[in-house]
Amino acid sequence: MFSDVIQFIRTLYPNDKSIPLHAPSFIGNEKKYVLDAIDSTFVSSVGTYVDQFESAFAKYVGADYAVAVVNGTAALHVSLLLCDVEQNDLVITQPLTFVATGNAIKYCGADPIFLDIDPNTLSLCPHALTNFLEKDTEVINSHCIHKVSGRKIKACLPMHTFGHPAKIKQIVSICETHHISVVEDAAESLGSYYHNQHTGTFGKVGVFSFNGNKIMTTGGGGMIVTNDVEIATKAKHLTTTAKLPHQWAYIHDTVGYNYRLPNLNAALGLAQLEQLDAFLAAKRSLARQYKDYFKDQKKCHYLSEPEDARSNFWLNTLLFEHKKDRDHFLHDLNHANIMVRPVWEPLCYLKPFVGCMTDNLTQLQSIYERLANIPSSYIHEPKS
Ligand SMILES: Cc1ncc(COP(=O)(O)O)c(C=O)c1O
Repeated sequence: MFSDVIQFIRTLYPNDKSIPLHAPSFIGNEKKYVLDAIDSTFVSSVGTYVDQFESAFAKYVGADYAVAVVNGTAALHVSLLLCDVEQNDLVITQPLTFVATGNAIKYCGADPIFLDIDPNTLSLCPHALTNFLEKDTEVINSHCIHKVSGRKIKACLPMHTFGHPAKIKQIVSICETHHISVVEDAAESLGSYYHNQHTGTFGKVGVFSFNGNKIMTTGGGGMIVTNDVEIATKAKHLTTTAKLPHQWAYIHDTVGYNYRLPNLNAALGLAQLEQLDAFLAAKRSLARQYKDYFKDQKKCHYLSEPEDARSNFWLNTLLFEHKKDRDHFLHDLNHANIMVRPVWEPLCYLKPFVGCMTDNLTQLQSIYERLANIPSSYIHEPKS
C-alpha cells in the first residue's frame, strides 16, 4: 500500500538496509576528546570537559548558566525541586510527551494536571492553559490554588514536541499572571528557536537531553539552563550530593543527588556540540525533502515548522486522515525494515497517571492516534 513511500525513504538512506528512526553520528573530535579525558584520568564528575561543555552550551543557547547532569530526566527532577515543587503540589503539563516529563513530577511527590495540546505545535496549548486557570484556580497570597482540591499549582512544564517550539512566550506570560514557575522541557529541541530566542531560555529553568536518540548525544546526559545565578548555584549543589566545598571534609547540608555528568560524557558532548550546526543544516534539508514529497499525498500530511518558530526537525512527523491508514503505514514500513512509530501513548492514559487531573482534551483525542514519526537521522554521505 505504501510502496512508493518505502521507495522514497530508501532513496534518502541508500546505505542502510535497516533504517532507524534516529541514529547518532560521530564525525568530529569525539574520539580525540574522549581519549584525552581517559588519558587525564578525570573520567568521573570532576574535569575540564564538564566545565568547557557547560560554558559552550550556555553560550550556544544564550543562557547565563548551564549545569550538566546525568540525563534529561534527572535535569527535570532537579528543576522542579528548584521551583519549590513539593509533596502534594500540582504541576501543569501536556499529556503528549515522553513519560520522563510525568515521572519527574511524581519524583517530587507532586501530581500532573494534563491540559490539551495545540494542533500545530503538538505542545501545550496556551488557550487550554488560560481556560483552565481562569475557570479552576485562584491566586491566594501569591500562590496559584486549585479551587476544588485546595492544592498549590507550583509549576508548568510545557514540552517542545519533536523539536517544534511550543507557543512559549504566551505560556510564560499566562503563568506569570498566575504566579506559576515555568520549567521548559526542551529535551527534544536543542537548536530550535521561538521568535529568534532559543527554546529552554524563556522559563525560569530549561532542560535538555543528550540521550543517544537526540540531535546530539553524550551517550546519556542532560543540561539545566537558567539566567538566575541562585538557581544555577543550587542546581550544581543539589546535583553534586549537596556537598559543601572543602578540600578534604565530606559535609552535606541536605539530601542531594549524584546527578553530575561524568567528564567522559562531557568530552563526547563538547565534540558533538561542535557539529551541531552541521546536524541542524542536514536535518533542515531532510525536512524540506519530506515536505516536498508528502505535499502530494492524499492520506496524510507532513507537520511543518510552526509560525514564528525555527525548528530543529528532530523527529519528522506525519498526520494521517484516518487511524486505519496510519496503522497500515506503521505495519508496511516496519515490515520493510524502515522504522516508523506511533507517538507515545498519552500520559493521562498510562497506569502511573490514571486518576490525575485533566481538562478538555479534544485536540489530543482527535490527533494522537493518527500521528507517526518517520526516519530522521542526518543523511550520511555514501560509504566508499
Ligand atoms: C520530552 C522528553 N523529556 C525528557 C526526556 C528524558 O531525557 P533522558 O532520556 O535524557 O533522561 C526525553 C528523552 O529521552 C524526552 O523526549
